[in-house]
Amino acid sequence: MRAVDGKVAVITGGSGGLGRALGRTFGRAGMKVVLADVQPEPLAAAEAELRAAGIDAAGVVTNVADPASVDALRDATVERFGGAHVLCNNAGIGAGAEGRMWDHELNDWRWAIAVNVMGVVHGINSFVPVMLAQAERGEEGHVVNTSSGNGAISPLPSTPQYSATKAAVVTISECLYGQLQEVGAPIGVSLLLPGPHMMRTGLFESWRSRLDEFAKQRPRQTPYTTVEALEAQMRAAGIEPQYTDPAEVADGVLAAILAGQFWIHPPSERSDQQLDARTASIRARTNPDYLRPVPG
Ligand SMILES: NC(=O)c1ccc[n+]([C@@H]2O[C@H](COP(=O)([O-])OP(=O)(O)OC[C@H]3O[C@@H](n4cnc5c(N)ncnc54)[C@H](O)[C@@H]3O)[C@@H](O)[C@H]2O)c1
Repeated sequence: MRAVDGKVAVITGGSGGLGRALGRTFGRAGMKVVLADVQPEPLAAAEAELRAAGIDAAGVVTNVADPASVDALRDATVERFGGAHVLCNNAGIGAGAEGRMWDHELNDWRWAIAVNVMGVVHGINSFVPVMLAQAERGEEGHVVNTSSGNGAISPLPSTPQYSATKAAVVTISECLYGQLQEVGAPIGVSLLLPGPHMMRTGLFESWRSRLDEFAKQRPRQTPYTTVEALEAQMRAAGIEPQYTDPAEVADGVLAAILAGQFWIHPPSERSDQQLDARTASIRARTNPDYLRPVPG
């Protein structure tokens, strides 16, 4: 997109740490902002915060795991603001499964796949046709899918549901990018790997937004994790937690939308030095020729 002023941005997971920061950044850039989230109270607070800052914002309670709910989000957006130009498929959860992988419950997998993978698919299915119709009138669009270095680059063995679903988001985004190029649509796609460090957000307490249909099947043996507990574990292992400010990530997303950049992956000493071999294939894929359609 060459300009975003006056355009409409839709952000799923919009009341969380990164989603809220995206709302602020887009709003400051003159966009109208729709925040969508499954948690009504934080959503109302996020909407109120943006409005108090003079941003034309709306909050729509949405469950990205439910295609009808995402269709309703689209309808509410078009009714309120007349269209949708930027879609951030950003809602995500960490399943927080207990024990080893072979002990994990099927609902841990189902929940993560429903939100982290199908949530992205539902966003694409509901909003890309709107963007394609707008493109007929010469309006540009952009889809940003939030993945994670944990899965996109290398998995943390302790989080198989999260890593596997975030890896799937990479491939979904690459295919979407390739197909939109093939049809010549003025709709960009970006794949976001927030970083270089983790963001201190609600992600580490995702159990707060666990959907009833994917409820735990057995009682927990250990208390739910908190970000403080995680930090204590890291310090006990001799690692001082380092954080990235979601506002910085959000600024990078806006810059990538304006630059038409696919990969949004802030470099870091850690990823450069320790993950060098693993990221080599990813970096090869950042070659702009990689996703260019093959004739015939
Ligand atoms: N925090 C990090 O360090 C980090 C790192 C890499 C990637 N990410 C990704 O960034 C994105 C944003 O996460 P965050 O860190 O801001 O965490 P967060 O928990 O603060 O925000 C996620 C939001 O998604 C919402 N959500 C959960 N299930 C939903 C559903 N079914 N429908 C709609 N909304 C739902 C939650 O209510 C929450 O507001 C996620 O996709 C996450 O996986 C985060």
